[in-house]
Amino acid sequence: MDTNLKKHIVVLTGAGISAESGLKTFRDGDGLWMGYNIEDVATPRAFKKNPQLVLDFYNHRRSEVAKAQPNAAHIALAELEKDFKVTIITQNIDDLHERGGSTNVVHLHGEIFKMRSIASYHTLYDIRGDINVGDMAPDGFQLRPHIVWFEEAVPMMETAAAIAMDCDYFVVIGTSLQVYPAASLLQYVPAGIPRFIIDKKIPSVGQYPNLHIIEKAATEGVPELKNYLS
Ligand code: APR
Repeated sequence: MDTNLKKHIVVLTGAGISAESGLKTFRDGDGLWMGYNIEDVATPRAFKKNPQLVLDFYNHRRSEVAKAQPNAAHIALAELEKDFKVTIITQNIDDLHERGGSTNVVHLHGEIFKMRSIASYHTLYDIRGDINVGDMAPDGFQLRPHIVWFEEAVPMMETAAAIAMDCDYFVVIGTSLQVYPAASLLQYVPAGIPRFIIDKKIPSVGQYPNLHIIEKAATEGVPELKNYLS
């Protein structure tokens, strides 16, 4: 079918969609923020104070993501592209949507396999191994992971909001919706558009007409979503 004639599904994903690939979420009982302080590893202040600690935190994330494989939920979302125009807006820094076959993925919080100079946001470099203190970008400045830390702006938010305003279905999967501005994307979705929430433990989203709750793990919930779409 001509892409222009296909209905547009916009999917906002969080760490829960990658949980069944073996990657830890942030706020569940065994989540990353139970073992680390956000202030110590995920803020610009932390990077100034102890850059190697922050780099090591993300070096570890990178090696975990490299070992992980996309799961049935990532793959089912990619398969929706046969019948729909699908845009994934993910808060995840992993590449499991892409490896699962999705072709249109917006990363709100950056990407673990990219890095940049601390002096420039715009030039990105691929990175598969570790970044260490003393590793310099071609401009002579220290390299850092291409991650949006707490207290930093979210440059892709404007793009994401425009996408959310232009959908026929809006789906939220595996996010506690506690981090803004990502969580506010639901408010950009036009009134009347069907909204779906798939999560093991449904977060509070307020009242919307046409809200469908699928309280299941992502690998079960996403295949079930297909039954609702026409
Ligand atoms: N299937 C579906 N949902 C799941 C599963 C699963 N197998 N496992 C956990 N969940 C759900 C949890 O119930 C929770 O609602 O995933 C959600 C995970 O929430 P968080 O850990 O808060 O992750 P997320 O919402 O992605 O965090 C947002 O916080 O620290 C930052 O930048 C980081 O992008 C991240 C942001």
